[in-house]
Amino acid sequence: MKKSFLLGGIFVLSLWGTSCQQPAATADYRIVPCPQQIDTTANKGESFVLNSRTKIVYPEGNEKMGRNAQFLFEYISKMVHLNLQTTTEAKDNNVILLQTGLESDNPEAYSLKVTPDQIIIQGASEAGTFYGIQTLRKTLPASEKKSNVEFPSATIEDSPRFGYRGAHFDVARHFFTIEEVKEYIDMMALHNMNRLHWHITDDQGWRIEIKKYPKLTEVGSQREETLIGHASERPERFDGKPYGGFYTQEEAKEIVAYAAEHYITVIPEVDLPGHMQAALTAYPELGCTGGPYKVWTKWGISEEVLCAGNDKALQFLDDVFTEIMQIFPAQYIHIGGDECPKVRWEKCPKCQARIKAEGIRSDKTHTKEQYLQTFVMQHVASFLEKHGRKIIGWDEMLEGNAIPGATIMSWRGEKGGIQAAQSGHDVIMTPNTYLYFDYMQSKDKENEPLGIGGYIPVKKVYEYSPIPESLSVEESKHIIGVQANLWTEYIATFDHVQYMVLPRWAALSENQWTCSSHKNYRDFLNRLEALMRVYKAEGYNFAKHVLSDPDFPQQPQAEEME
Ligand code: ACM
Ligand code: ZN
Repeated sequence: MKKSFLLGGIFVLSLWGTSCQQPAATADYRIVPCPQQIDTTANKGESFVLNSRTKIVYPEGNEKMGRNAQFLFEYISKMVHLNLQTTTEAKDNNVILLQTGLESDNPEAYSLKVTPDQIIIQGASEAGTFYGIQTLRKTLPASEKKSNVEFPSATIEDSPRFGYRGAHFDVARHFFTIEEVKEYIDMMALHNMNRLHWHITDDQGWRIEIKKYPKLTEVGSQREETLIGHASERPERFDGKPYGGFYTQEEAKEIVAYAAEHYITVIPEVDLPGHMQAALTAYPELGCTGGPYKVWTKWGISEEVLCAGNDKALQFLDDVFTEIMQIFPAQYIHIGGDECPKVRWEKCPKCQARIKAEGIRSDKTHTKEQYLQTFVMQHVASFLEKHGRKIIGWDEMLEGNAIPGATIMSWRGEKGGIQAAQSGHDVIMTPNTYLYFDYMQSKDKENEPLGIGGYIPVKKVYEYSPIPESLSVEESKHIIGVQANLWTEYIATFDHVQYMVLPRWAALSENQWTCSSHKNYRDFLNRLEALMRVYKAEGYNFAKHVLSDPDFPQQPQAEEME
């Protein structure tokens, strides 16, 4: 009979303090995200022992599987300091076999089978095998010395609940280096995520090289100084220090390739027609007033937006997206659409002329300027569609005329997602009520780094249910994924990035990967403790608030996390 983890409590495995000793430490199958099924009843009492003579075997001629083998080598080396041989030479005994060919409707599915002679990880694709490797990695104890590991016989059958499992990263408000973005990708892989939503342009900085418009990065990637303190504080204070940074196209391609090796697709976001002040600083003629503008030095919603009446602005968008498509092979491109004030458009002769020429009228639900925004978004959507791409936009896309085929990212709570799914749009759920990880993790503001506000602790993330109850079964099929967003107005260092997303990503990953029937907060906390040991082994800076949750496994384990 198969058992789900939750019924478990089967693995009573003490890891701390034993990992340096012989005989072997024991692997712990209680991992995050919780696999769909685990069976430990067959061959009870038998186990596989991982030791320095264990070989990782992968199929000859399969480059991706070779890389998978290398990843597994690195993970094992990091956790238990065994440096295993990777090989394509078939062996039956004392091997971890990496295979593809699992029969499943889900290309990301895998099975992991532990017998005394072998551990076999078989994916429905190389990506599936990769997730099996992530699982194996998370069962390992963290040891300071070389350590053998005993794996009790088990079979895990697993596949994700959602095909889109995203993490957003705003590198516009603060810039993060290539190495830091790569580490973000490593962290995503640990949580079985597969989409990086890369927010690369905003009022405070344009961060991607566009060859046809060199001033976007020469001018638009640099700001004079940065606001200190919260945006609501008066008087405003600034640090007086120039700040900037951008990625060349080659560097961005390097990120795309690195992500792809981790089975992660990079979805770029060029936010329009608002959030464009940095671009307008570089090319003032693209704004309604003609400027001058300056790359924004503070946080909020700028009124300086792209002029929707200017043909040059539309040409600019076509040109920018032409280069964006060359850098990013993703099927989806995010075109923003959020927080676009209409005050300039209301007064701009060009914008008003466009409204007239297009026969745009206001009605009971929307202003003519809201319909003008649809006109701009539709222009970009058609352009991208012509080139075989699809668009994602924030839920403001539902204001005005809906754009056929647009995928909607529901951020202002769940309302937009519900409305979109009901009207036949695919939806990615990123509600700021549960999944904005720039929000605070504690109410104790004194002891927290400055933040935007809000309060979303791990428990709240875990409680999130991605399919709203009000949707029918048919409508629910439009919820294609779940994502947490990380806006970086108040997050200037990568250490702080890690603190904001870890361990909230762990709770997120269970919403993305695990079937809702397997979700159980207490059980999750038990498994989270083991994941935190991986964080520790990887040197990640993670928040510790959850350790004082009354349901968190008790001392002394918690002390080990400090
Ligand atoms: C957003 O948070 N402005 C999408
Ligand atoms: Zn205008």
